[in-house]
Amino acid sequence: MDKGIWLMPEFRKSPDDEKSKRRADGPTPEWKNKKKTGFGWIEWLRGWWYVVHEFLFQRIMASHLQNPLPLPPVNELTCIVTQLHWPPNRPLAEAGAHVVMAVRKPKAAHDLIQKWQNEWSGMGLSLDIEVMELDLLSLDSVARFSEAWNVQMKPLHVLINNAGIFSIELPQKFSKDGYEEHMQVNHLAPALLSVLLLPSLSRGSPSRIVNVNSVMHYVGFVDEEDMNVVSGRRKYSSLVGYAGSKLAQVMFSSILHKRLPAEAGISVLCVSPGVVSTNVTRDLPRFLQAGYHLLPCFIFSPEEGSRSSLFAATDPQVPEYCEMLKSDEWPVCAFISQDCRPTNPSEEAHNLETAYKVWGRTLEMVGLSYDCVERLLDGQEVICRFGAQ
Ligand SMILES: NC(=O)c1ccc[n+]([C@@H]2O[C@H](COP(=O)([O-])OP(=O)(O)OC[C@H]3O[C@@H](n4cnc5c(N)ncnc54)[C@H](OP(=O)(O)O)[C@@H]3O)[C@@H](O)[C@H]2O)c1
Repeated sequence: MDKGIWLMPEFRKSPDDEKSKRRADGPTPEWKNKKKTGFGWIEWLRGWWYVVHEFLFQRIMASHLQNPLPLPPVNELTCIVTQLHWPPNRPLAEAGAHVVMAVRKPKAAHDLIQKWQNEWSGMGLSLDIEVMELDLLSLDSVARFSEAWNVQMKPLHVLINNAGIFSIELPQKFSKDGYEEHMQVNHLAPALLSVLLLPSLSRGSPSRIVNVNSVMHYVGFVDEEDMNVVSGRRKYSSLVGYAGSKLAQVMFSSILHKRLPAEAGISVLCVSPGVVSTNVTRDLPRFLQAGYHLLPCFIFSPEEGSRSSLFAATDPQVPEYCEMLKSDEWPVCAFISQDCRPTNPSEEAHNLETAYKVWGRTLEMVGLSYDCVERLLDGQEVICRFGAQ
């Protein structure tokens, strides 16, 4: 394994590891009555520094990467991707993978695939892509999707939780399940999908769950008692909703990574795509959208932005790296940055005490029991509050 890339200094054991371990054992007496309700100035400024740094320097940091990213052979892989657009679906299918596009607009997906097939048929090949309906704003839909996939008893090698929203609209919006929309689409629904698909991922082992996260998680804060940001302890804004949902995803992924035994052969990763010119800005005010798209020297194209998730989904060294983090009792799961290098998620993501609380609260919200992972890997049935008709 090329330790030059994979063992960055920040991954070596630091005094913080000990702090995190102590936190996992439970709160120390002096913290007991002090519930953290937000960031201090220094944490906040440090978080924003990471965001600005990625925006300004992502091109320089990723200058060693080819575009498109060359992929290793993926002919044997079946990949579920929650995304309608072409990257990372089309590059995976062009490289030979069987791709399942999990989308809420199947008709639009079929039209798109037809277009890709026409363009690709010039090469004398056809793309192996199917479409399945999935609406992340409905946990019933997530449970039904998982059930429909699992009953086929097919192996699943890669799940890319790519779909996400950043909605600027106010007032705060809630799904019909009663959850704040950013939290539901960006964290709760992908978490439910990942857990319910474990039997298929186990069949496809070695397999991977790749969560498309964001550098914005560095400015995120999660209060596990107030995942919907309705208590009034913090003022809601789109930024609070988005960044909090992305941090919750890193925390949940870290605990899932810890709970999956090495024998399961399932790696869990989060990735940052960088700042990418996509439709994610469609709800922003027009002047901000224009600014966003007028900065091509800073902003990645969708193809460039998909490199970190394609890398996490296919690089042969990823499973070994994830296992190494487990054996070192590192407090967080692997996080791959936009330049396809492992990096350190936010300081708040290292707070194992909160991460375990977010794990428990998430399972409660998506209607699963605390021991669902162990039961599913054991081949036992798990009841989910959602999906059963
Ligand atoms: N663009 C950036 O600068 C940036 C930066 C950091 C992180 N990210 C992350 O990258 C990921 C992809 O975002 P993007 O930039 O490609 O945004 P995008 O162009 O808006 O694509 C988002 C995708 O999510 C799907 N989606 C949204 N709501 C859904 C729902 N309820 N059910 C099913 N699918 C749903 C959309 O499908 P429809 O077409 O049906 O709406 C679309 O395919 C997100 O997780 C985002 O947070 C993006």
